[in-house]
Amino acid sequence: MNILLIGSGGREHAIAWKLAQSKKLNKLFIAPGNAGTSQVGTNVDIKVNDFDGLAQLVLKEKVDMVVVGPEEPLVKGIYDYFLGRKDLKDIPVIGPSRDGAQLEGSKDFAKQFMVRHGVPTARYKSFTAATLNDAYSFLETLKAPYVLKADGLAAGKGVLILDDINEAKKELELMFAGKFGQAGTTVVIEEFLKGIELSVFVLTDGKSYVILPEAKDYKRIGEGDSGLNTGGMGAVSPVPFADETFMKKVEDRIIKPTVEGLRKDNIVYRGFIFLGLINVEGEPLTIEYNVRMGDPETEVVMPRIKNDLVEVFEAAAKGELANVKIETDSRTVTTVMLVSGGYPGDYVNGKEMLNLDKVSDSILFHAGTKADDGKVVTNGGRVLAVSSYGNSIKDALVLSNKNAGVVDFEGKYYRKDIGFDL
Ligand code: AMP
Ligand code: GLY
Repeated sequence: MNILLIGSGGREHAIAWKLAQSKKLNKLFIAPGNAGTSQVGTNVDIKVNDFDGLAQLVLKEKVDMVVVGPEEPLVKGIYDYFLGRKDLKDIPVIGPSRDGAQLEGSKDFAKQFMVRHGVPTARYKSFTAATLNDAYSFLETLKAPYVLKADGLAAGKGVLILDDINEAKKELELMFAGKFGQAGTTVVIEEFLKGIELSVFVLTDGKSYVILPEAKDYKRIGEGDSGLNTGGMGAVSPVPFADETFMKKVEDRIIKPTVEGLRKDNIVYRGFIFLGLINVEGEPLTIEYNVRMGDPETEVVMPRIKNDLVEVFEAAAKGELANVKIETDSRTVTTVMLVSGGYPGDYVNGKEMLNLDKVSDSILFHAGTKADDGKVVTNGGRVLAVSSYGNSIKDALVLSNKNAGVVDFEGKYYRKDIGFDL
């Protein structure tokens, strides 16, 4: 089977690494990929939203299946694009339809979906500039801190959590005035939930589903979860508090009504559902849906899946996931993300990466790298995920942290306290 994987981050390197282990794989193409994906497949220089370019490659290289990494092409309708073309409609795309991708593309849509299908989530209301006064009144019914969410995709920056109600009102006005562009035309205001977060991953064929290993990620740049939000500085799987009792609640209260809800709403969905959950005193609530795998969670989830991933995707494509049982490696996997100095603010690309060949007891998933004249250079804020196995979180982190110290490039930064709260 020939597969095209779309994306260029650590998530895509981890998926590519896993696909490459399959006996069923013939050729793997990654568009556009990075220096890491080129070790396990063939990078093709096509942008993730260039549907015509991707289609051309699929026809030329006789690609049998397309796997979509990031959310943007999904929200822009890559699934529908392939289905709508006579010459491509039989090539399965792993990823939801444009309608399904609204679960991530619109927070208002996602909240309405949750309420309609009884999925537990924070109390909320949605507002536009025309209903500013109602928004103020609603804020006054809530207790601090106040959670404001731009409805649309805002590169992970569209959620504000504010302690002071006057500041919340001011920020709300700024959102309506275009602080996050079109994404903030509608704003979801919701109750703050206090608890500990985790990421649960589901793959569905629209009827049945499988649950993949769960993970916890660390979003803040600074140790002790301080400072600005990033794409993710590290991750751990499994999550100790996600025991059988807790995961049963997640499945019964959240996963089943979600998959069933998609079916009832006639939303075509054959792909990943990433549930951003929060554990509030033992009860799971939904913070958000994403329509893709998490990054850096994928860098700890893929190494724990024992199944042949090509077979799992084939079953999803054929609507046969009911016959699949996910086999999980019982070991812990941790990842520590090396980032460019200055990230999540401004940083400089093109720094030569050293000592990549000196690491043998961790898996190095490239996130933002590029091959340049025989060298590997940095090419993004998040540069490299250092993933390791261990018999405990502590054991795995010894290796991730050691090798995070071994690989080097100018300006390198990483958190040395991943997993500190578990
Ligand atoms: P989101 O983009 O919806 O994942 O929000 C980003 C982050 O904001 C989440 O990962 C949470 O840490 C936090 N957050 C979002 N909604 C809430 C909420 N209702 N209560 C507490 N924290 C929240
Ligand atoms: N690590 C969180 C995300 O991928 O959105």
